[in-house]
Amino acid sequence: MLLLGIETSCDDTATAVVRDGRHVLANVSTNQDAFHAKFGGIVPEIASRQHLALLSAAVQDALERAETTFADLDGIAVTAGPGLVGSLVIGVASAKALAYATGKPLYAVNHLHGHIFAPFLELDREPEYPFRALLVSGGHSQLVHVASPVDLRVIARTRDDAAGEAFDKTARLLGLPFPGGPAIDRLAQAGDATAIAFPRHRAERDSLDMSFSGIKTAVRYFLESPAGRSARVEDVAASFQAAVVDVLVDRLARAAATEPYRMAVLSGGVAANSALRDACLAWSRRAGVPLLVPPLRYCTDNAAMIAGAADRQGAAVLADARSLTANPNLPFAFAPVEV
Ligand code: KG4
Ligand code: ZN
Repeated sequence: MLLLGIETSCDDTATAVVRDGRHVLANVSTNQDAFHAKFGGIVPEIASRQHLALLSAAVQDALERAETTFADLDGIAVTAGPGLVGSLVIGVASAKALAYATGKPLYAVNHLHGHIFAPFLELDREPEYPFRALLVSGGHSQLVHVASPVDLRVIARTRDDAAGEAFDKTARLLGLPFPGGPAIDRLAQAGDATAIAFPRHRAERDSLDMSFSGIKTAVRYFLESPAGRSARVEDVAASFQAAVVDVLVDRLARAAATEPYRMAVLSGGVAANSALRDACLAWSRRAGVPLLVPPLRYCTDNAAMIAGAADRQGAAVLADARSLTANPNLPFAFAPVEV
């Protein structure tokens, strides 16, 4: 299938053209960071207004780069949720209009499912089921058991902040610009990860859940202490990052002892983190479990991953171009089919 993907769940206005769920013919992303940076976080109203201003041009751009036209497409895939409602509605309304006008099928994709299938973009390898996904983004941190493209089960999640949220909040404490993840990653390269022993959340027995708000709070108390006032910011960044990475790798490793699976994937914006990528790949070699990590452009939000998921989920995500509505709280699992 040749699909146009549209993703506007947060602050990236993204479009893509993807063939058969993996050949990316165009991947366009218009980053809005410059508009949000001075507020220290994403302002939903600004995000939706920017989507409205940028989306038509981004669709046109993707088609031109892919050297294709609406007539060649087999369908349009759009993120239907979860995300910011004002942002989602721009993508959904536009995808509905395009599908209705062209008569092409419309696919309504869960943003998180997009992240989970992102590692298979531009790869000569199809998912082998069941596989495990460690999904770490700005809004979510969870371990998912993927039994088939439409049978995905969350087996562990964060009890409080998402890993990306912890990066963003800690970066703010350190006076770094938004989004904080890439800034901490860069600083940490010049820091000593063992300089400060920030606490690691330990899961209770029979649970693989994680927590990141304690690490962030520990950084705040440390920075207010006499030792903190004289510490090198690079060391604080590296030590904070090491604590987050340790918790994530611990859960990934302990999850391996539960039910069997054939491969693991790392995905979501935080999967762009160099220390996390290295630590997960080291675990994969130790444990003998193949691990796929997407290139950086498919870690953070993008529309190619939405087309990729739609291609694999097919009829299960087919939507009506007249009645689809964006759902900011779209459930992770597919609703059981009534018989
Ligand atoms: O998946 P994503 O683009 O959007 C959501 O769906 O949330 O993830 C964005 C998150 C932000 O919190 C950002 O700080 C984090 O991913 N991030 C990183 C890195 N690059 C992006 N966190 C740590 N290290 C990075 N290199
Ligand atoms: Zn995302």
